Amino acid sequence: MTTSPLTLAPVTIAIDGPAAAGKGTLAKRVAEHYGLPYLDTGLLYRAVGKQVMLAGVDPDDEEGVGQVARKLEPGHLDDPTLRGHEAGELASRIAVHGRVREALVEFQRAFAARPEGAVLDGRDIGTVICPDADVKIFVTASAEVRARRRTDELIGHGRDVTYERILSEVRSRDERDSGRTVAPLRPAPDAHLLDTSELDIEAAFQAACAVIDQRLANLETR
Ligand code: CDP
Repeated sequence: MTTSPLTLAPVTIAIDGPAAAGKGTLAKRVAEHYGLPYLDTGLLYRAVGKQVMLAGVDPDDEEGVGQVARKLEPGHLDDPTLRGHEAGELASRIAVHGRVREALVEFQRAFAARPEGAVLDGRDIGTVICPDADVKIFVTASAEVRARRRTDELIGHGRDVTYERILSEVRSRDERDSGRTVAPLRPAPDAHLLDTSELDIEAAFQAACAVIDQRLANLETR
């Protein structure tokens, strides 16, 4: 049994985790279930990466990329190519820069502070963007399981990819996201770890709802 969305006071839910752990699908379903607005923060970094490419700026030039990030407009997010694999790789490269992260903080915090509550997913939501989030979930799965999921997804979209290549990309993305000095990927100390290696999306959703309901019940009795 999960909490009826109607009984819910405004809450902020932070969902973080590595590439292809299933956090996007999970976060969307959680947001729908609890009737909360949802922000996919990865899309912001993907959009910055795309604008950097269009402007011909070097992705390793922190100042240049930071300037692009400060000029990001909502219209830049409406681009179906941002969901693609290459956009994710580029996002991970520009996301290492402190200047880029600074430029995107305010927008994310304003979203999280909406009076009706919010669900945000990303890498540093529970640690940097919303350290006071009511519920924090860190979604993981082994690199092999994540690579298998991503490979199947890409093949489903007609892409000619191999599991070995995707596994090596997943590993290098993990290394870059966890090894960067600014806002590295890691669970907040008070995050609930949800390992989806053995769970399909329905089971992961039920497990996430159980965590959220438990946490909300604790908040109510305070
Ligand atoms: O779906 P997937 O995990 O592959 O990608 P995403 O969540 O859209 O994120 C793409 C890249 O953006 C990540 O590899 C991170 O480097 C970066 N990112 C970040 O640094 N901080 C966030 N809050 C969200 C994404």
